[in-house]
Amino acid sequence: MKKNNNIGLDNKDVTMLSEKLNELLANYQFFYMNSRGFHWNIKGDKFFELHVKFEELYTDSQLKIDEIAERILTLGQSPLHTFEDYAKISKIKAEKNVTDGVQAIKKILEAYEILLPLERELLQLSGDSNDEGTNSLMSDYIGEQEKLIWMYSAFVAND
Ligand SMILES: [Fe+2]
Repeated sequence: MKKNNNIGLDNKDVTMLSEKLNELLANYQFFYMNSRGFHWNIKGDKFFELHVKFEELYTDSQLKIDEIAERILTLGQSPLHTFEDYAKISKIKAEKNVTDGVQAIKKILEAYEILLPLERELLQLSGDSNDEGTNSLMSDYIGEQEKLIWMYSAFVAND
């Protein structure tokens, strides 16, 4: 007999999903901080354009961070909430003193190469576990980010 949590999902599945979601959360915290740094430090003739773009990006990441953490709580588990823990498991690393717009966008594209596979893995795992809430969240993130990858790639296409 399977043991279910209070939203009817299998406890073992939920533990495994929460671990992956915590990994995603940790990566997003670094992604958020890096985007904020790009917003502040960017220089050059595209300053006004990119300053605004990076603000959109960190604002969106902040929302996602909250959604991911609260999904973990909804599953009945606890989200990581210290930088110490985030630093241990995040594959995205802190970027320092990036002032060039093209370089910043390349760093963002590199981060998506970490975030997207994690989200696709979570899409698969949540699908297998009948966790529709996590599944639809991942599906939204994936579609949005695929579009952003197209746009960011277009921006750096000639560099
Ligand atoms: Fe600002």
